[in-house]
Amino acid sequence: MAVAVAVVRGSVVGLCYGPGVSEQPLVRARGLVKRFGDFVAVDGIDLEVARGEAFGFLGPNGAGKSSTMRMIGCVSMPTSGELRVLGMDPVREGPRIRARLGVCPQLDNLDPDLNVRENLTTYARYFGLSRARARARAEELLEFAQLQDRAASRVEPLSGGMKRRLTIARAMVNEPDLVLLDEPTTGLDPQARHLLWERLFRLKQGGTTLVLTTHYMDEAEQLCDRLVVMDGGRIVAEGSPRSLIETYSTPEVVELRFADEADHSGKLAGIGRVDPLPDRVLLYADDGDAAVAEVHRRGLAPSSVLVRRSSLEDVFLQLTGRTLVD
Ligand SMILES: Nc1ncnc2c1ncn2[C@@H]1O[C@H](COP(=O)(O)OP(=O)(O)OP(=O)(O)O)[C@@H](O)[C@H]1O
Ligand SMILES: [Mg+2]
Repeated sequence: MAVAVAVVRGSVVGLCYGPGVSEQPLVRARGLVKRFGDFVAVDGIDLEVARGEAFGFLGPNGAGKSSTMRMIGCVSMPTSGELRVLGMDPVREGPRIRARLGVCPQLDNLDPDLNVRENLTTYARYFGLSRARARARAEELLEFAQLQDRAASRVEPLSGGMKRRLTIARAMVNEPDLVLLDEPTTGLDPQARHLLWERLFRLKQGGTTLVLTTHYMDEAEQLCDRLVVMDGGRIVAEGSPRSLIETYSTPEVVELRFADEADHSGKLAGIGRVDPLPDRVLLYADDGDAAVAEVHRRGLAPSSVLVRRSSLEDVFLQLTGRTLVD
């Protein structure tokens, strides 16, 4: 049997036994637990991330996303269970793993005493790049982050989106095998989010493996090839955005609003699954327009009607009975 050893920048990253057998996952967790005292933040999760994938953790506040990311990033030790990152053990080989990771933490931790370019060059020097190489890498990354014009600026006056782009650029200085992004666009306006998505998409197209957390369903749909839905420290579902929607929802959803406060669920029974929310009623249907026609045929007169495609928000609602963003 042919044995191929994959070598990336001088280090062995995996063994492939003949064609058709893929290399080991970049992240592998089995029964992974993180406890803080008596509190269980991550409650026995299993997952695998393959090279080249964009993998997401989707879940509400407190789901355990950051706790998991910090264990993968080797800055927080697992309480129990098995974790391998780049084929190595985070407890024994943390520094070796970290040398090949790019990390964008939930809160930006840029150095306010340095300018934009220096934030990149200084970080590059930590990874052992020569002064000249660090300068060259910083210029490449300033271009990537579209911050060439702000290279000499301090960090503090940058917009939220610029700071985030700089943090992501900084995570790329060591040409990492795996990039961890904890809520890359939380708190940004739509334009800044779209610009960031476009940059992350570029990284993904370039073959970089991305692991990200988000509580935005649109972000997960835009960026993730595969994701896990987390709630209360557990994984409640796993798959591609499309397969999750196909499994847990219907192709279309009708959003009905009524002027009165009456419970219309009974009259809607049988048209599709009915989910009454505080401000509207969701009606899950294969064909939204046909469902709306049936609503009217039954003599109901909603004050507004919206037919839309199902989203991961609907998946989350179906799985947990709650919305993703409160
Ligand atoms: N150092 C800590 N000590 C005690 N409890 C913690 C600690 N870090 C996290 N927790 C708790 O663990 C749970 C999961 O937190 P975590 O930060 O992993 O959630 P998250 O999914 O990242 O949430 P968010 O979307 O708000 O960032 C929360 O209830 C949190 O309060
Ligand atoms: Mg978090």
